[in-house]
Amino acid sequence: MKIYTWESLKEFQQRDCKQKLIVIEGKVYDVTKFMHKHPGGAKLLGAYAGEDATDAWVALHNDKELVEKYMKPLQCGIVEDYEKHVSPSQADFRRLRQLAESSGWFRARPLFFIKYLLQCWAFELAAVLLLWQFGLHIWTVLPAALLLCTAQAQAGWAQHDYGHLSVFNSRRLNHIGHELVVGHMKGASSHWWNFRHFLHHSKPNVVGADPDINVPYLFLLGDKMPQEWGKRRRGFMPYNWQHDYFWLLGPPMLLPLYFHYENIYFIFKRGDWRDFVWTLSFFLKFFYVFNHFFPSWLATFGFYMLVRYLESHWFVACTQMSHIPMDIDRDQRREWLPMQLKATMNAEGGSFCRELLDHTVMLYLNGSPEPVAVTAQQACYPDAPQNSTGCRPQEDPLNGSPEPVAVTAQQACYPDAPQNSTGCRPQEDPLKVNIVSYFGSDIQQYSCAHFRPPTAPSSLFPTMPRHSYPLVQPHVKQLCARHGIPYVEKPLSTALADIIRSLKKSGELWLEAYQMPG
Ligand code: HEM
Ligand SMILES: [Zn+2]
Repeated sequence: MKIYTWESLKEFQQRDCKQKLIVIEGKVYDVTKFMHKHPGGAKLLGAYAGEDATDAWVALHNDKELVEKYMKPLQCGIVEDYEKHVSPSQADFRRLRQLAESSGWFRARPLFFIKYLLQCWAFELAAVLLLWQFGLHIWTVLPAALLLCTAQAQAGWAQHDYGHLSVFNSRRLNHIGHELVVGHMKGASSHWWNFRHFLHHSKPNVVGADPDINVPYLFLLGDKMPQEWGKRRRGFMPYNWQHDYFWLLGPPMLLPLYFHYENIYFIFKRGDWRDFVWTLSFFLKFFYVFNHFFPSWLATFGFYMLVRYLESHWFVACTQMSHIPMDIDRDQRREWLPMQLKATMNAEGGSFCRELLDHTVMLYLNGSPEPVAVTAQQACYPDAPQNSTGCRPQEDPLNGSPEPVAVTAQQACYPDAPQNSTGCRPQEDPLKVNIVSYFGSDIQQYSCAHFRPPTAPSSLFPTMPRHSYPLVQPHVKQLCARHGIPYVEKPLSTALADIIRSLKKSGELWLEAYQMPG
């Protein structure tokens, strides 16, 4: 077996672009042929050629034993002194991953997710009942469209959970669940979504690799691309106005036009008839049901497009605010932790949303009684960071703290909420679903957790069930602080406004470069 130094491996990869070598846990794999059979897609492996793919590999597979069976025949070497090249932040991140695994944070609780599906069906049913009871009026059609748009948006976040194999502990059930939710409930191809989304996760905000920022000619994003395009006089749009025409070409077009086109193209190009049948079942159901209320197929189609138009605005706001205002660049071959955090930020509900909406419209699925002070047995480490549920961990796995102490009544916890893996019970009722987390957290790149919307955990640990995000989030923050990696958090309103601000800034950079004498 060949022994490579990092330098020789990189040099080899640069010399021989056809052969694709990737490194996982110090072993070198030749994936040149395998990549075309890879269930996660070929491009994903190609993007890591000549690089350490360990953290991406760990993050994106959840049945490692199965994957390792395929890896054995592909191994063609090892990297000399691999451990020496693992940076302190990388090592620390891997320890956090181990902690998350040993604490059971990757163990799915299927019941947690069922309520999301029930809610989607309830919204759909409400739309049907509204039109059925009150007939066709502007004041019934618009609310019905809004109800269906909510159902679609929620199903969108739900399919994300299945797509990342995080709802069931069986990968087969996750795959079937994904086909059902994305195909039958949303009318899209499961494989299309997987390929697109896994690419986004593996190289977020990387030009040429992340399809989510691939909008060339229409928009220029980030700082560097606009300057490059400006200097070379590329493109045909007045990019300095892109923050204005975004309202015409961005949200209104993405779902109603572009995603339909991409799905049809993908299904027919691959001949993916299974996805075709699932997708068709959605359209048959939709048109069969709603054609009862509308005078013609065309009118039903118009109603369908209205739903997609509304959903598209929701979707763009939710997904883009976490990424567009962040660093967008060509592949700098960064490590997993800094790469994800440079490309992702978290939006906080903000005091306005939290106070107003939390206390006005609450959906209690299952409430707990009053919080109580915890006992000395639930002693916590005093200088460990408080986690997002308001508790300090009982064990301090990463830092090493002095003696644990009993927490005070101010750190009161819900007694019948399940103890989390750090030994604390949450201060906020974890079973409560409030309106901010329901809508606001979705605004978190479909990575919503119950309380607040932490996107970074979903980027770093895509297969983690979302009910575990609040548990891991404080550790991620702590890790970032320790290694000087910025962990960007903003109020929801700022994050939304930043989509437009960043488009404007990129447009100005383009114009400046464009007008520079040549
Ligand atoms: C030699 C290297 C690799 C081998 C042999 C391999 C093998 C596999 C196998 C067998 C599956 C199917 C697993 C299942 O159905 O549960 C899979 C899925 C996947 N792999 Fe890999 N993989 C490799 C490297 C990578 C790397 C480096 C990445 C990320 C950059 C990656 C991302 C994915 C993704 C996203 C999936 C889809 C998960 C799913 O939906 O099932 N793989 N891979
Ligand atoms: Zn994702």
